[in-house]
Amino acid sequence: MPTIEFLGNGFGATKTVDAPEGGALVDICDEHFCPVPFSCRSASCGTCHSEIVQGIEHLAPAEPLEQELLDLLGGGPNSRLACQAEVLPGPGLIRIRSHLG
Ligand code: FES
Repeated sequence: MPTIEFLGNGFGATKTVDAPEGGALVDICDEHFCPVPFSCRSASCGTCHSEIVQGIEHLAPAEPLEQELLDLLGGGPNSRLACQAEVLPGPGLIRIRSHLG
């Protein structure tokens, strides 16, 4: 089962959750009160822009709508929008650091 570790960025503590079925990262964050801020939830604002420190291969590739904003935000190949990312089922570790959280 994927384990997702949300890293503190100096303001928040690290939080670890298990996501046995995978699924929408935004739903996992909501369910477990994870330290990632959201606003539009539709790939428009960049509030949820996050760095995938480890395990980006356990996320489905970005769809064009997400990729368009990622290109504008310029976060590099390991950056994703937490409101758009889909966690793939299966074993693994994903480590995430929100740019704002
Ligand atoms: S919450 Fe606005 S882009 Fe994700």
